[in-house]
Amino acid sequence: MIDTHSHIDMLENPEQAVETAAALGVEAIILPCAYPKDIDKIFDLTQKFENVYGLLGVHPSEAKDWEDTLIEKIKLYAQNPKIKGIGEIGLDYYWDKSFNDIQKEVFIKQIELANELNLPICVHDRDAHKDTFDILKSHNKTSKVVMHCFSGSVEFAKECVKEGWYLALGGVVTFKNAVKTKEVAKEIPLENLLIETDAPYLTPVPHRGKENRPEYVRFVAEEIAKIREVSFEEIDKITTRNAKKVYNL
Ligand code: NI
Repeated sequence: MIDTHSHIDMLENPEQAVETAAALGVEAIILPCAYPKDIDKIFDLTQKFENVYGLLGVHPSEAKDWEDTLIEKIKLYAQNPKIKGIGEIGLDYYWDKSFNDIQKEVFIKQIELANELNLPICVHDRDAHKDTFDILKSHNKTSKVVMHCFSGSVEFAKECVKEGWYLALGGVVTFKNAVKTKEVAKEIPLENLLIETDAPYLTPVPHRGKENRPEYVRFVAEEIAKIREVSFEEIDKITTRNAKKVYNL
């Protein structure tokens, strides 16, 4: 298993989380960046742990903290082989709609940076499916795309698959009332599927209410296996292969 989106820097004890995950069969962890101030910390964690790889970028909710000087900083760090992509970047109209224009501008700048560096993009899209899709279609030239914590409909999922994008599913797929996400898990081609935790958020059943951890990615894989009526091993094998391919691990 590979946890393709795990904020281990935000966990109570990152060292222990990485160790436990490895002991329980998580081969690698992809660590995204959300805040500009955390870029150094994310980089340091990728140097500290062999099986932790980093994504660098600024989350849409933090877009007001973007500065163009970050471009050179990210470029410099991206020379290191442990940095595997730009993320998490995108649009979030759920929390605050007052600076959509800034979000779009910062999203586009980071897409262009990913294209220049020839790195994949990890996309955060919350309540912004249409704008996210349109911006990616018009601005992304060469980067592979991962729609992290995919929350759209089956129809939107199919549109993304048509573009060759990857869809990452997390703990939400285990929630009883997550009808739409379960449908996506059932319908999309396995070649486009990734699994993640988004730890410390969105803890899967049966641990809801507790801090999410990278080893819980197993529950995501098990739920998808159940929905698709295939074995856990098959979901594990295919999603691991997909993660290695998209993030060049
Ligand atoms: Ni995240």
